[in-house]
Amino acid sequence: MQHRQLGRSDLSVPVVAFGAWAIGGGPYWGPGDDDAAVEAIRAALDAGIDAIDTAPIYGMGHSERLVGRAIDGRRDEVLLLTKVGLRWDSKDGELFFESTGDDGRPLEVYRNSRPDSVRREVERSLERLATDRLDLVQVHWPDSTTPIAETMGALAGLVREGKIRAVGVSNYDTDMLDQAVAGLGDVPLASVQPKYNLLVRDIERDVLPWARAHDVGVLAYSPLEQGLLTGKVTSARDFGATGRGKRPTFQSVNRDRVNALLEQVVAPVARAHDATLAQVVIAWTVQQPGLTTALVGARRPDQARENAAAGQLVLTAGEWEQIDRAFTDLVLEPVPAD
Ligand SMILES: NC(=O)c1ccc[n+]([C@@H]2O[C@H](COP(=O)([O-])OP(=O)(O)OC[C@H]3O[C@@H](n4cnc5c(N)ncnc54)[C@H](OP(=O)(O)O)[C@@H]3O)[C@@H](O)[C@H]2O)c1
Repeated sequence: MQHRQLGRSDLSVPVVAFGAWAIGGGPYWGPGDDDAAVEAIRAALDAGIDAIDTAPIYGMGHSERLVGRAIDGRRDEVLLLTKVGLRWDSKDGELFFESTGDDGRPLEVYRNSRPDSVRREVERSLERLATDRLDLVQVHWPDSTTPIAETMGALAGLVREGKIRAVGVSNYDTDMLDQAVAGLGDVPLASVQPKYNLLVRDIERDVLPWARAHDVGVLAYSPLEQGLLTGKVTSARDFGATGRGKRPTFQSVNRDRVNALLEQVVAPVARAHDATLAQVVIAWTVQQPGLTTALVGARRPDQARENAAAGQLVLTAGEWEQIDRAFTDLVLEPVPAD
């Protein structure tokens, strides 16, 4: 597994990290298999994936608890990356979305990056993950009701207290990133976590150049477009009432276009490297200049092992450019979500 320094922090992160959103279950992903999730994390660790990205909101605490269970006895082998800033148990801040809890009751999720809330969330994450330190704490989504400087002041304080080792943000634009750097003072901003994959390339225009210029790490989320870029989401696959089936990219016209292009352009590269489509897509992602790590979600040990092996795969410049060009030219239908 290749490793890279995360910005100016002292964290050395693998180019493929384990994304722990899906294992949390909840209405978006549907109920999961907890034992398989724990096995998936352990398989990832065994295969060299020594960083896990989670968040309190993933399954309302369930993902963090599963991660804590999976790494029991192995805490020193792994970097724990978690988040603050989304609360389902308080109504301060800015309403983000409506959801349902495990008991089926409706609940509301608020963006809340207030200093007191940040501190409280960090304490709860430490408990759920059964650890005494968090390696990276990221603000999950911006909260327009809290000045960024106040949030960063709280996070810098937690670094000085030794509860967290580094600070990151997620879903921030470049203006917000400038404010985060200023608000942190002498604590470096380690990373930004945006959505990025072959189908969603917006950050190439702004966040990626900004991160390169400021020596800030970039952790790409949904690098497989939630499974679509593995080639395994055919038009026959039914996602029922869960969230993925409602994404514009998952509508059948777009599934067909993506799968056809994967077959035409990515499959020959995969054959040349004795690799899978998912592995080539992950390798393409982490070879994008300025990109540090792909956070790849997995719910089963075989997926975790397959994704880990992508951390060794290096595409030639010609292969990388050919895939880059083909997907730049791909036009998807803006099919409205159901
Ligand atoms: N900061 C944010 O706002 C934000 C938002 C989204 C995600 N994230 C982070 O990024 C991580 C990854 O994103 P994501 O889970 O949205 O999407 P993703 O990594 O693009 O896709 C994960 C899904 O792809 C499928 N998959 C993974 N490996 C596979 C393989 N080898 N073969 C076939 N299918 C495979 C699995 O689907 P099945 O389960 O159907 O098999 C898995 O659940 C999350 O876990 C989270 O840590 C952060």
